[in-house]
Amino acid sequence: VSPVDVELAQARLVDLLPQGWSEIRSVGRAELITWVPASDEREAITTLGDALDEVGIVSTVTGARERADWRDGLRRHHHPIDVAGRLRVRPPWTDSVEGRLDVVIDPGMAFGTGQHATTRGCLDCLLDVPPGGVVDVGCGSGVLAIAARRLGHDPVIGIDHDPLSVEATTRNAAANGVQIDVRLADATGSVVPDADTVIANITRRHVIDLASHLTRPPRTAILSGFVPDDIPSVVEAWSALGLRVAREIVDDGWAALRLERG
Ligand SMILES: C[S@@+](CC[C@H](N)C(=O)[O-])C[C@H]1O[C@@H](n2cnc3c(N)ncnc32)[C@H](O)[C@@H]1O
Repeated sequence: VSPVDVELAQARLVDLLPQGWSEIRSVGRAELITWVPASDEREAITTLGDALDEVGIVSTVTGARERADWRDGLRRHHHPIDVAGRLRVRPPWTDSVEGRLDVVIDPGMAFGTGQHATTRGCLDCLLDVPPGGVVDVGCGSGVLAIAARRLGHDPVIGIDHDPLSVEATTRNAAANGVQIDVRLADATGSVVPDADTVIANITRRHVIDLASHLTRPPRTAILSGFVPDDIPSVVEAWSALGLRVAREIVDDGWAALRLERG
């Protein structure tokens, strides 16, 4: 896509590509590179092309066989991130920093190296939440759930409808030596367990729907996966549960909110 369209393209593709993507920008074009099983190649090319077309983006969508250096390529895009000088999220091949809570993430095929603005925003919002029970809806690689455990929250439940995410969260929780109750479930089709804090970094539609799927309003909700223009509709849905905005972060074209009850 053209570099001017890349943010809109990413916003449109976030729910179609839960496995994430890497990005290469060069003069006059931006490439978003993702992985799909070879058997899904044709369908993926059509779906992605149509999705971009719908929002008026001119794109070229092509498929290529996985390169031998693909994993190394991903490695080059996976760097440590530091949140407010208190927490470091890092890939296993980099070092921890003394005095910072350490979260080690190998995402595999699941979404979540910690680098995406939505994840960074959720991590920042989580830092000041008093410890309690947490449910992380759409846990991806487990980065937010593991960070919650590091910050003293207990119990922590992670839910995802993608088996690759459940596998990645389970593996990363074990690698970090923390206990997370990881469940394979569709958050829109089943009851989400009660918790003091609900975290959801999914999509605008799912974040809004989630407010009506909870049996008890949480004390805190940390929400992301939508753009700043969507903040009013998200806030309205959650205000029905008595939650109000306590913090709003806008970063790289994405929004993250911390809502508190009362
Ligand atoms: C944007 S990723 C966020 C991953 C991780 N929480 C992070 O911040 O890095 C969204 C995740 O939500 C999951 N997801 C999307 N819709 C879902 C649904 N209806 N029920 C459960 N999980 C869902 C996807 O599989 C994906 O892992």
